Amino acid sequence: MTMRPFDILIAEDNEDDILLIREAFETVNMANRVAVVRDGEEALAYLRGEGPFSQCPFPGLVLLDINMPKKTGLEVLIEIKSDPRFRPLPVVMLTVTNNSGGGQPVSMANIRAVSQVCHAHGVPFFLDACRFAENAFFIKQREPGYADKTALEIAQEMFSYADGCTMSAKKDGMANIGGFLALHDDDLAQRCKNTLILTEGFPTYGGLAGYDLEAIAVGLEEVLHEDYLRYRLRSIAYLGEKLDAAGVPFMKPTGGHALYLDAAAMLPHIPASHYPAQALAVALYQEGGIRSVEIGSVMFGRVHADGSEEPAALELVRLAFPRRVYTQSHVDYVAEVVTYVARLKDNLRGYRISWQPPQLRHFSAQFEPLR
Ligand SMILES: Cc1ncc(COP(=O)(O)O)c(C=O)c1O
Repeated sequence: MTMRPFDILIAEDNEDDILLIREAFETVNMANRVAVVRDGEEALAYLRGEGPFSQCPFPGLVLLDINMPKKTGLEVLIEIKSDPRFRPLPVVMLTVTNNSGGGQPVSMANIRAVSQVCHAHGVPFFLDACRFAENAFFIKQREPGYADKTALEIAQEMFSYADGCTMSAKKDGMANIGGFLALHDDDLAQRCKNTLILTEGFPTYGGLAGYDLEAIAVGLEEVLHEDYLRYRLRSIAYLGEKLDAAGVPFMKPTGGHALYLDAAAMLPHIPASHYPAQALAVALYQEGGIRSVEIGSVMFGRVHADGSEEPAALELVRLAFPRRVYTQSHVDYVAEVVTYVARLKDNLRGYRISWQPPQLRHFSAQFEPLR
């Protein structure tokens, strides 16, 4: 697929997110020119064509991070939207919660503020809602004024600020497969349904079979049961407490769907070029059958044209928890295996990549252990 070649500006201070976005563009063969700025002031200077950016083309799309140095994404958005030259911004999407950065939630205050800026300027505002229930329960636990509200009420408030959402139902839909687009605007929803019938099939027998839709409907209701949510977030925090007591380094606070081990801190003798997080993931599987995923230089390392590699900023191993599968004994077992592997750490060696595909290598690369 080749898309229309408008220019794109990425305003983002996280190198890993920049690489992820670039990789995604490469994967779908987007021929668009992409420029990157790393803080809010640079983003505005770029858009206004000031200083070093005087010759840069005006972008057709801006991907704006919320938490940036100097000026936040929100401040940049307010300035963009109050300048008539920059009005035609197509849509804003906010992901609740963050997957590659530790499963951290977005506060209601933040969702409300983004929504207000968007709506003040007629910009549609969408949520990537695949972990909405975990996000809602974190708001209940952490944000003043929400302790007495139910997870359902909090989720309803979150969605009330958005024009719609996309949802991968494999996450907080509790389903084996599927997802959906939801919209507040009934006319727009009807138009989307018509397009769906043209491209995929009728909503109840097209991309998803009836029983998958039924599973999602039940999952969306059950995922907001607070005993389930409390158990889920508590299980991950409990693993964190056990690993803390054993001196195993990990990202804190623990997230809504996973705990992220810090392989760089655990294995300082393995350089990033030998993929310490991959070495840790392999050891966890070999020693205890624990399946995890590397979120480090295999996933986010940058390969230059001369074959040299720029490492990722972090070397993490994600221990994601399937929903409604683990008991406390399973979590105890995971803690025992991680602690055991941490004790063996001086014996662990790095890996080299023996084969890799041109894109998204972390899905299918092959490795050889270094001796
Ligand atoms: C935040 C977020 N959005 C969307 C997706 C995509 O889900 P799917 O693979 O079901 O399309 C994922 C997958 O992990 C995700 O973490």
